Amino acid sequence: MKKYLLFLSFLSLSFLASSQSATWSDNIACIMYTNCTKCHNPNGVGPFSLLTYSDAIFQSGAIKSATQSKHMPPWPADKNYRSFAHERLLSQEEIDLIANWVDNGAPEGVASHAPTIPVYNTSEEITSPDIKVQIPNYTVAGVGDIYRCFVLNPGLSVDQFITALEMVPGNRSIVHHVLLYADTSNVPLALDSADSSPGYLSFGGTGSSSSTLISGWVPGSGAYFYPSGMGTFLPANVKLIAQIHYPQGSAGQIDSTHINLKLTTSPFIRNVVMGAALNHSFPSILDGPLAIPPNQIKTFHFIYNSPVVDVTVLSVAPHMHLVGVSVKAYAVTPIGDTIPLIDIPKWDFHWQGAYLFRKPLRLPANSTVYGTATYDNTTANPNNPNSPPQWVTAGEATTDEMMLIYFGALAYFPGDDNIIIDTTTVKATYNDCEYSTAVKGFINSEVISIYPNPVNNMLFVEYDGLLFDAKLYNSNGEMVWAKNHTLSFSNFSIPTTDINSGQYILVLTDGAQSISKKVVIFH
Ligand code: HEC
Repeated sequence: MKKYLLFLSFLSLSFLASSQSATWSDNIACIMYTNCTKCHNPNGVGPFSLLTYSDAIFQSGAIKSATQSKHMPPWPADKNYRSFAHERLLSQEEIDLIANWVDNGAPEGVASHAPTIPVYNTSEEITSPDIKVQIPNYTVAGVGDIYRCFVLNPGLSVDQFITALEMVPGNRSIVHHVLLYADTSNVPLALDSADSSPGYLSFGGTGSSSSTLISGWVPGSGAYFYPSGMGTFLPANVKLIAQIHYPQGSAGQIDSTHINLKLTTSPFIRNVVMGAALNHSFPSILDGPLAIPPNQIKTFHFIYNSPVVDVTVLSVAPHMHLVGVSVKAYAVTPIGDTIPLIDIPKWDFHWQGAYLFRKPLRLPANSTVYGTATYDNTTANPNNPNSPPQWVTAGEATTDEMMLIYFGALAYFPGDDNIIIDTTTVKATYNDCEYSTAVKGFINSEVISIYPNPVNNMLFVEYDGLLFDAKLYNSNGEMVWAKNHTLSFSNFSIPTTDINSGQYILVLTDGAQSISKKVVIFH
């Protein structure tokens, strides 16, 4: 109690008033810039921008509910089952900070504290591609979600390997995903010429049974650089098929997505195969055929016996349609260890893509890979394409179903499991601001002393408990000193000898709340 009184004596009233809520400038802008604005910018796929305070304030209620329900940011895979590279996830602290901000009326705070607004230019990461293939200008036609395939000819006269690839949407506000396939048959071209506009409609895959998946793009993905010495084999004369999802409301807009490829004819490349090891055909499906009666929820089981050599697995990409509601895969090694692979407890057809393991995963020889997929063909499934529900069987159409779990894999090589995918294969994302994610709520009940004040050459700050970060701002709002992400220090000092004389604000944050204290430096 005594300590508490001492604490109060240090603080001004305005300080207390401002210590109650997370603010846009101190907390929320950074969370948005790190997790949301890649899609929610004026040219992004998100339905509104979240770049500025005035953008966000109008959406604050929706932001709170979308983050509480974990609908946003979109990341259907369960992180507790298997963590992947480049996860789009908020921590519970970030979700709580957003709720705290909204519940307190979504205050802006001190505008000058806000991090710099990120700039999303359309610069490409692969600036000198060996081959660039582009879809013709296509004006989206039709209602609802459109899945359209475009046949692209890279003009390869000899076999090559892709060592890096980048899918660049022509119109970022309407391209929701791109799945890239290779095909050597004539089927895609035949489908294309039967349709008078560029490309052809195809909901599931490409409509050709000989297409193989190469890669997937979703908003926020960068270029994919294969780990050194690895690539995807492209036979001479291959066609590439890009299946693009344009969401509802895209009609009338024009797209001309292109793909940059780095290729090599080197024979020393190890081929990464994207194979649907678990799938709805025999012998993989154990309780098939994949057929879901109307008004039933049905679960199917799948199996795959891995080769007699160890395998390096780079990625996993499940694929189902609209009646699918959950999908899971794991492997059991010959000595009985279970390796979790992926769990999507709430399948969302609109948010599918390839998940990259943080490090390539070594699957021991003779392991067994198991899969489970559940389909809800009742009226309780809001995505059910049939009303009333009808029999659903395997096929490519919107009203058909599928169960494919692709794995990007190749024969194991010693050292593969030490490659760090997060840094070696994809460029860093925007992460240019600091925000607090620490344990909440110490500041109101702790003693803080800041002395001497005014200060000449060394300012001391002492307190009990956890402090997450400290920042010193000059009167122009420029940060002149900062100590970040340090949970355990109970005192620190700020050397002020090299800081100009003048008035400063010291902002201390514990994760949920921040307090600011005026400091005068004189020399
Ligand atoms: C990968 C792209 C992407 C990212 C990242 C993303 N969004 Fe979205 N967001 C979308 C798209 C597309 C929609 C519209 C379709 C939908 O709801 O799935 C949307 C819809 C929303 C909606 C309206 C729908 C609703 O549920 O009320 C809110 C609010 C929202 N996003 C907030 C956020 C916030 C906050 C973040 C970051 C924490 C975020 N989004 C991250 C793409 C994204």
